Parts: sequence; C-alpha cells; structure tokens
Amino acid sequence: MASRITKAVIPAAGLGTRFLPATKAMPKEMLPVVDKPAIQYVVEEAVAAGLTDVLMITGRNKSALENHFDRVGELEATLERKGDTERLQKVNYSTDLADVHYVRQGDPKGLGHAVLRARMHVGNEPFAVLLGDDIIDARDILLSRMIEVQAERNANVVALLEVDPAVAQMYGIATVERTDDDDVVCITGLVEKPAPGTAPSNLAIIGRYVLRPEIFDVLEETPPGKGGEIQLTDALQALAADESIAGGVYGVVFRGRRYDTGDRLDYIKAIVQLAVDREDLGEGLRPWLRDFVSKME
Ligand code: G1P
Repeated sequence: MASRITKAVIPAAGLGTRFLPATKAMPKEMLPVVDKPAIQYVVEEAVAAGLTDVLMITGRNKSALENHFDRVGELEATLERKGDTERLQKVNYSTDLADVHYVRQGDPKGLGHAVLRARMHVGNEPFAVLLGDDIIDARDILLSRMIEVQAERNANVVALLEVDPAVAQMYGIATVERTDDDDVVCITGLVEKPAPGTAPSNLAIIGRYVLRPEIFDVLEETPPGKGGEIQLTDALQALAADESIAGGVYGVVFRGRRYDTGDRLDYIKAIVQLAVDREDLGEGLRPWLRDFVSKME
C-alpha cells in the first residue's frame, strides 16, 4: 500500500551517560551493534517502511552521526583502488540510504521537546518518530503496519509490547480497549514510567510512533512531567483523553523481535541475538557460544 507519510523523526540528542566512558567523545547512537552503528538500523527500518525523508534531532558532540551519513571521498577512492567492491558497497549504502536532515535540540528538555523541534520540517502532515534505543528485527513488520493503521483510522498510533510487569516502570504504559483488529487496541490512557506496582497494564510503548501534526500544538502546552522533562507520553495522553483533537490514540501490539540497546546489559544481549542469526557470523558464533555457556555452568 502506498503511504502518504514520508517523514521520519529520530531523536538523537541524548547524552548516553549509561555508556560512559565510551560515549565521552562519541554519540551513543554510533555504538556498533555487530558491525553497524545502532542508528543505521533505525534509519534502515524507516526507509524499509517508505520513509526516506529523515530528520534527526541532535545536540552537542553529534558530528560523528552526521558524518556517518555523508560521503567519505578519500575512503571510497581507497576502496575503489583496491578493488574492494564489497566494502565500498557497504560504505555507499549508508550514504545513499535516505535524505537525512538535522536540527539541534539546543536544550535537552525531554523527548516531547525533541519531537517539537521537528515541527518546521514536518509541517502539517502525519509523520513517524523512531527512538534509537529500540531496534526492530528487519524480518518482522511493525512500522508499515502502524502507517497503515494511522491512515485507516486517521489517528495517532504507538507501538506496544507486552512486558514483564517488573520492568513496567521503565516505560510509558497504556490502558487499552480491544478493537475489531486483532493486533490493534484503542488507548484510553497513558502514564509515563509509573511507580513500581502501579502500572495499569503490562503494555509498554516501544519507541515507534506515527503521529498527526496536531501533536505539536499539544506539545507546546505540555508542562514538564516525569523527571522534570516534557514527555511525549503526556501529550499522547491528552490526545487519548480527547478524541476530537486528533482522532485519539491506537496501539499496534508488536509480537516480533525487538532489541533494546539502551543500557549495557541489553546492548550486549542485542549484539549476541543479532549476530547468531547472521549468515556471515552465526555459523562461527553458535558452537562457540554453546561451548562457552556449558563451561560456565
Ligand atoms: C521513552 C518514552 C517511554 C517509552 C520508551 C521506549 O523513554 O518516554 O514512554 O516507553 O522511550 O523505549 P526512555 O527510554 O527514553 O526513557
């Protein structure tokens, strides 16, 4: 189905403090997941769903991120001279992937504030937001389904994942009602990072959103919430509470593979999970991993 959404917004202004000192001089989005920076998976996912106009919301010390999506003439010439077409293709692939634009957040006042910085670029059309800490397996469909649901319902759509109640306090959590579609729920309430034991469900927002532009007006009026930051979840709660603003909020319940690269333990798990399935690495990694684990036990 041809989508009329073409723009993806990727907030990438975070300081990456959980990965210090690795992120002292390098943005966390550039940390390699196997052999690609985390951010490239996210851009590839947007492109695969037809979103080739990518706006990154960046901040200080993010030049490596911008360089990654630019041409590197010297490197290309060297690889060409050596006849290393395979690596040359990999280098060119990341350059030609999408039409990448940048705007700086200026003041890190939260995810909602970062998304608001996209207003000028996005204009008056629906758009997607992809958070860099979540990687969705390229073999599983999520974003294109969300775009479809957005168009059908002319509403706002978030991705939901069933999580262990013990970790609900790390996410935006939704209260939902069923719809006629098996994988779609109507969201009646949202709370950002509920205190332990108070989560209204185990359906957590994972970092994918397809939003109507009315969200910008709501974000302008959204006061600082959890952690003193302007929260996207709070603006979505306002849209869920009053359908007349922008058609309400729906959730697409994702049942595929999602990898979290947001903290160190999950990052290590993500690398192992992705590498064991890779054609070029899995064969060598799997037997080694089995052996390693059995010796550990
Ligand atoms: C953000 C959102 C949260 C969402 C999460 C998904 O939190 O505020 O609602 O559940 O992303 O990864 P963060 O992880 O940036 O603290």
